[in-house]
Amino acid sequence: MCGTTTPNVSDIVKHRTLIIGSTGFIGRFVAEASLHSGQPTYLLVRPGSVVGSSKSTTTIGYLQERGAIVITGSIDDQDSMEKVLKEHKIEVVVSVVGGARILDQLILLEAIKAVGTVKRFLPSEFGHDIDRADPVEPGLTMYNEKRKVRRATEAAGIPYTYICCNSIAGWPYHDNIHPADVLPPLDRFHIYGDGTVKAYFVTGSDIGKFTMKTIGDVRTVNKSVHFRPQCNLLNINQLASLWEKSIGRTLPRLTVTEDDLLSAAKEMIIPQSIVASFTHDIFIKGCQVNYDIENPNDIEVCSLYPDTPFQTVEECFKDFATRVVVVNVPKVAEKSKSNDFIVVPNAKPEALAVAPASA
Ligand SMILES: NC(=O)c1ccc[n+]([C@@H]2O[C@H](COP(=O)([O-])OP(=O)(O)OC[C@H]3O[C@@H](n4cnc5c(N)ncnc54)[C@H](OP(=O)(O)O)[C@@H]3O)[C@@H](O)[C@H]2O)c1
Repeated sequence: MCGTTTPNVSDIVKHRTLIIGSTGFIGRFVAEASLHSGQPTYLLVRPGSVVGSSKSTTTIGYLQERGAIVITGSIDDQDSMEKVLKEHKIEVVVSVVGGARILDQLILLEAIKAVGTVKRFLPSEFGHDIDRADPVEPGLTMYNEKRKVRRATEAAGIPYTYICCNSIAGWPYHDNIHPADVLPPLDRFHIYGDGTVKAYFVTGSDIGKFTMKTIGDVRTVNKSVHFRPQCNLLNINQLASLWEKSIGRTLPRLTVTEDDLLSAAKEMIIPQSIVASFTHDIFIKGCQVNYDIENPNDIEVCSLYPDTPFQTVEECFKDFATRVVVVNVPKVAEKSKSNDFIVVPNAKPEALAVAPASA
């Protein structure tokens, strides 16, 4: 851990918190953290989500068992959102909708404005400081949409907090939007450029935990909160070495050049090309580290909560390594009876399954 003491959640003021997008990649971490911190937690769930994928149903069931209250609705219906906010006396709204739904938040904002009782709004950010980062297309379009939501929030006078949590801990595949859901490579590393540009990596549970700390904190009103844990400031060469240490073997490193990433972005295959444009911005242009936090509207999360530890990437990778299982490789799988984990030469992440952390 980066810090020295155990997080104390009892000091968090309780607010009736609505989470929008709890079945999603980042949203499930936020929803879990909300419940863990003792907030009265309401989940806005689209009707199709409950009966839709079994993953969504399982996630909602899991969160309900832990005390979450499920409300059926959609943020693109202003009238019903007003009703939800009023009926449940919602004080904090955390939106974690995905990249394709960013502009729907403008309708949600109208509902928040009309009701007038929401004390804090966290729009769906959970990445870079989108006013500073400068990805090529198609990532730029998503950032322009997020910028529109920021400007509309500010113009409406709704107290807000922007969560700039940087990269989620995992191997930063340039074609995968949910890197923490797949294992780091077991065959070869793709190293972006010369592999020396650093980025901040934060585990999903820490994204959730620190997000929830900000919601009732007066110091984060109308601020961008930057997640910059020094212990997790790593370049991709260092990340590769940490994974090699975790699995006990070395892997070949292949260079992916700036031009390779730009070509992948130009292909306009959505969402992969969006990820390629962000990967270029992070690991070639250094968008997470090429500015200082000095504006009055910026605040760094470690300065807010110096005693609360961050999980390190090394710990996260050790955990990944214990979850390496082999699919469709019966001979090697046999060996699993005597080994904690198996490393499969030439295996691709797609050929592997990651067992849930809680399993
Ligand atoms: N820092 C990082 O490394 C990182 C990585 C990935 C994403 N992000 C950012 O995190 C945010 C969330 O992205 P994600 O990938 O976690 O999203 P996601 O997995 O696509 O999940 C989106 C969630 O929003 C819900 N939703 C969508 N439209 C809705 C509507 N109209 N009303 C109510 N709920 C709705 C979805 O519900 P259903 O179950 O009904 O579909 C789902 O729960 C984005 O801003 C994204 O840019 C950051």
